[in-house]
Amino acid sequence: MSELVLLLGGSGRLGRHIAGELLQRGYRVRALLRSGKRSALLPAGIDECLIGDPLQAAAIRGLFDGVQVIISALGASLSASLLKGGSYHAVDFAMNKAVLDAAPNSLRKFIYVSVFGAEEQRHLSYMDAHEQFVDALRSSDKCAHSIIRPTGFFGIFSQLVDIGRTGIGTVFGDGSARTNPIHEADVAHACVAAIEDEAETLELGGPEILSRREIVAMAMRAAGRKARIVAVPPRVFNLGIAPLRPVNPRLHALLQFSAEIFTRDCIAPLRGTQRLEDYLADYARRR
Ligand SMILES: NC(=O)c1ccc[n+]([C@@H]2O[C@H](COP(=O)([O-])OP(=O)(O)OC[C@H]3O[C@@H](n4cnc5c(N)ncnc54)[C@H](OP(=O)(O)O)[C@@H]3O)[C@@H](O)[C@H]2O)c1
Repeated sequence: MSELVLLLGGSGRLGRHIAGELLQRGYRVRALLRSGKRSALLPAGIDECLIGDPLQAAAIRGLFDGVQVIISALGASLSASLLKGGSYHAVDFAMNKAVLDAAPNSLRKFIYVSVFGAEEQRHLSYMDAHEQFVDALRSSDKCAHSIIRPTGFFGIFSQLVDIGRTGIGTVFGDGSARTNPIHEADVAHACVAAIEDEAETLELGGPEILSRREIVAMAMRAAGRKARIVAVPPRVFNLGIAPLRPVNPRLHALLQFSAEIFTRDCIAPLRGTQRLEDYLADYARRR
């Protein structure tokens, strides 16, 4: 019988692709979701959906029964529209750690999605939350593990199409920092391949290296607008967002992360296959 994979974060942007890829490759899939409403986002054919709080993993009946592998794409959202819920630490670290602690010693492998470059940017709470769990995974002797480190997902850049419809795009700094975003399906492919692959860490980005200015211009083209791009000095932006910190620490952490990530090169090994321009054009057509 094929292996049973417990999928965390299966209702998310990446998690849905992982679920589809697992089914396509013949794995059995048990998903843990926080709400029944989100189960409709998963592809048809999932063997089992359990509803529960990952922090209470030890108490969720049957959660680990027969599970050989856990794949986690569970993390607090980077989408500006989904800023409800706990801090990055309370979700990305604490929830994954609770599942790891509760998992039985019979578990063969835990595959965790962190972020490309997170080890060097631990001063950002979004990055540190992921890396705290990576540390926990590395120091646990419970099972083998793989850390997947992708660059930004295509889906996150679709927000630039919506902003581009206003006729004005923005970049932090001069917009020359480069990156190679990756399609969620390409990341999902790597996560599922990691079930059998022995590499401890896999860094991956998409097939094209683009400057932040090129990406904004691409999104504005997809939105059908001429590229009018305003450059925002990062220091001014950081001063402007400082008062947010005590009021909404999660939003502050997200904006601080954005300002920093958009002004430094973030180029991972070119492993993805899909093109951002096609994705954005398709997104704009469907809106
Ligand atoms: N987006 C990017 O560009 C990017 C790049 C590199 C790495 N990553 C990392 O990859 C992982 C997946 O990213 P994604 O874009 O697929 O994220 P996403 O779409 O926001 O999905 C996150 C998943 O985590 C679940 N989740 C969030 N908060 C939760 C909570 N408080 N309790 C229980 N479940 C919760 C969500 O459940 P609901 O559906 O119920 O909300 C969803 O299933 C994250 O760790 C992210 O940081 C993302």
